[in-house]
Amino acid sequence: MHEVADHNQDRNKEHYEKLYANYNIANTLYWLKNLDRFLEKATTTETSWYALYQFEFKERIKDKSILEMGCGDCVNAAIMAGLGAKVSANDLASASGEIIRNLNKNHGFKYPIKFIEGDFLNNGLEERSFDFIVGKAFLHHLEIPLEKKFLKETSRLLKSTGEARFFEPAVNSRILDEIRWYIPVKGRPSKFNRKAFKNWKTEDPHPDRSYSSIHFENAGKQFFKNVKIVPIGTLERFSRLLKWGEKRNNFKKWALKNEQILPQLINKKFTRSQLIIYREPK
Ligand SMILES: C[S@@+](CC[C@H](N)C(=O)[O-])C[C@H]1O[C@@H](n2cnc3c(N)ncnc32)[C@H](O)[C@@H]1O
Repeated sequence: MHEVADHNQDRNKEHYEKLYANYNIANTLYWLKNLDRFLEKATTTETSWYALYQFEFKERIKDKSILEMGCGDCVNAAIMAGLGAKVSANDLASASGEIIRNLNKNHGFKYPIKFIEGDFLNNGLEERSFDFIVGKAFLHHLEIPLEKKFLKETSRLLKSTGEARFFEPAVNSRILDEIRWYIPVKGRPSKFNRKAFKNWKTEDPHPDRSYSSIHFENAGKQFFKNVKIVPIGTLERFSRLLKWGEKRNNFKKWALKNEQILPQLINKKFTRSQLIIYREPK
């Protein structure tokens, strides 16, 4: 287990082993055969894909070495490998390793995906060996002392010309954060329902910690000379008020495009998530 012995990590492993056990890869295999169509939709309507593939990521990764942390259902690892990248992926959940074995068996990748089994911090990987290191909804699952170790390791593994990019939630406004707990979402009761909320909290794999852009900026500055935070979701967050369907997707598309022209001050304060880019490892 990790050096920072951590109840939260046990909870993460238990939660995600269950979630990804017997995961059906049929959709991923279908998307791999229709990569352009998948990416066209995902990167214009889904915040995490929109964020991670910003700044011509898709065009830049062919034949490049990429490490993905917290690969989960491995859809992103598969898409990057489908685009011709040399992908290594790690997750606490061994179920992710099983998904990768199935993907490699059922799809002819140029470079089969490598799964890094077990505790990533004892990975034995060579320093300066990756062009990109990515994480999608990953860092915020770590307690802050453990996150610091992951960032230090990211800086050791990244080539001097490389780039680390993480898509994470952003909480930059205390008031918005407080309000969101009172609005129930699928799988999470409202804070008004105290007992149900308390029960939900004991199972939740997210630690109580800062998700602020300032935190990620300062955390990155310890190990990288170049840190950039891109707010994402200031307008898109309102898509939750619409029902699933074409109308909602069209709104998301419009919002992701148009929120970029909002004043930086508003965007930073009210954003729902963020793309964090770290370059020039120290
Ligand atoms: C919210 S999920 C995101 C999964 C995937 N990246 C996605 O976008 O769907 C967070 C993932 O981080 C993994 N995780 C949490 N702590 C970890 C750790 N210390 N090392 C590796 N993976 C970890 C969890 O098992 C889970 O798969």
